[in-house]
Amino acid sequence: MTETKNLWGGRFAAKTDATFAEFNRSFDFDKRLFAADVRCSIAHCDGLFHAGVLTRLEAEKIKNGLFTLVKRADYDKNYFDDATAEDVHSFIETRLVQLIGDTGRKLHTGRSRNDQVATVFRFWLREEIVEISRVTRDLQKALVDSAEAQKEAILPGYTHLQRAQPILWAHWCLAYFEMLGRDRERLDEAWRRTNVLPLGSAALAGTSYEIDREAVAKDLGFEGVSANSLDAVSDRDFAVEFVGACALIMVHLSRFAEDLILYASSEFQFIELSDAVSTGSSLMPQKKNPDALELIRGKAGRIFGHQTALLTMMKGLPTAYNKDLQEDKEAVFDTVDNVKSCLKVAAIVLQNLSVNKEKTFKAATEGYLNATELADYLVHKGVAFRTAHDTAGKIVLFAIAQKRELHELNLEDFRQFSTQIETDVFDALSLEQTLASKNQIGGTSPERVFESLETAKRDLEIEE
Ligand code: ARG
Repeated sequence: MTETKNLWGGRFAAKTDATFAEFNRSFDFDKRLFAADVRCSIAHCDGLFHAGVLTRLEAEKIKNGLFTLVKRADYDKNYFDDATAEDVHSFIETRLVQLIGDTGRKLHTGRSRNDQVATVFRFWLREEIVEISRVTRDLQKALVDSAEAQKEAILPGYTHLQRAQPILWAHWCLAYFEMLGRDRERLDEAWRRTNVLPLGSAALAGTSYEIDREAVAKDLGFEGVSANSLDAVSDRDFAVEFVGACALIMVHLSRFAEDLILYASSEFQFIELSDAVSTGSSLMPQKKNPDALELIRGKAGRIFGHQTALLTMMKGLPTAYNKDLQEDKEAVFDTVDNVKSCLKVAAIVLQNLSVNKEKTFKAATEGYLNATELADYLVHKGVAFRTAHDTAGKIVLFAIAQKRELHELNLEDFRQFSTQIETDVFDALSLEQTLASKNQIGGTSPERVFESLETAKRDLEIEE
C-alpha cells in the first residue's frame, strides 16, 4: 500500500491511520503561516539558485509558481479547504507540484521542515510583535489623552484598598503608561532575539549544499543567522519570551481593568463607562455590566496558561526537533490574537469613559487622606517623624470620634495634642498643598505630573 500524499511516504509500506493522521495535522491552524512560508520559500529558492543547485529557469518557475499560489489564495476563499493537508509546508509543496510539475519537487532541496518551520514562525512572529507594540502604543496614547482631558480630576489613591492619599487622575493614567512602556521594551527584546534565521540548519546537522545563509538572512530581513543547527531547529525561547512579555502586558491590563471595574461600581461611582462597552442583564433591568473590562481581566489567565504550556512543552525535550514543538503554534497564535484585542478594547474603554469629578474629589477629601500631611507638618516644626506619626494618629482618632475631618478641627483641638501646631496647619492640610508637596520626580504634584505628561506626549510624537 504505497498510495500516500505525505511528503515522507517513500519509506512507508502501510497507510497512516485516519485518526492518527487527523491528530498529527496542524494545517487547520498553521495555514495562517501561508504567506510567510511562501516568502521564506522564495528566499530559499534564490539561495538554491545562487548555490548552483537550481538553474535560473527552474528557480524562476518555482518562484512564479509560488506567486501564483498566493494569488489563488487571495481570490479563492475556499483555497484552504483541504481536509488532508498535513501542515502548511506540505500544503504549499503539494500545490506547487500540482501547478508546475516535477520542478516543484526540487524546492525542498537542502531544507527540512524543521528549519523551515522555525524560520517561517520567526518571520511571521516578527511582524506580529511590531503590530502588538503598535497597539500597545495606541493604548499609551489613550492614557495620555485621558490624563489630558481630565487634568483637574483628583482621585483618592489606595493601599490595601483603603483610602490613602490623594492623587491626580493623570497620575493614575501615567502609571499605566509607564507599565506599558516597559512592556514595549520587553517586546523589542523579544523581537531582537526572534529576528535570527534558522534556515540552513536543515533537519538538525546543517545543510550540505553551498547555500549562503547570510544572503538568505539579508533577503528576509533577519538580523543574522543562527550559530548552531541543533539549537536552531529546536529553540523556541523566542516564543516563550514573546508570550512572557505578553503575560506581563496582561498582568497590567488586568489590573487596569480591575481598577476601572471598581471605580465604575455603585460603591465608588468614580467613573461612568460608556454604553458602547457595557452590557445589560437578561434578568435585572437596571444592570450595566463592565463586560469589556471583565473579559480583559479574565483573558489574562489563558495567556499565563500558554506561557506555562510552552515552558512545560520544552523542558523535557531531547536535543533538536521533536513533534512536541508543533504545540507552540496555537499557544502563540492565541496569545497574539487575544493580547491584540485586549489592548484595543482597553483603549476603547478609556476613550469613552467619563470621570465623575465631584465624586472623586469628595472621596479624596474625606477619610483623613491628609493625615500624613499632618505628620509631615510636625516634622517641619522639628518633631521626629515617629513622634509626629503617633501624634497625628491620636488626632485622627479624636477627629473620628468627633465625626469631623482634620481640616474641620479647630486650632484648640490640635493644640491639645501638640502646642507646636499653629494656624498654618490648615494650609498644610489643604488638598492643594497635599498634592503640591509631592513634588519630587515621580510624585503626584500637578507640576510633576503635567511635566511627565508633556514628556509622555513628546515620546509618543517622536515615534510617529
Ligand atoms: N507541522 C510541524 C510543526 O509545526 C512542522 C515540522 C514537522 N517536522 C517534522 N520533522 N515532522 O512543527
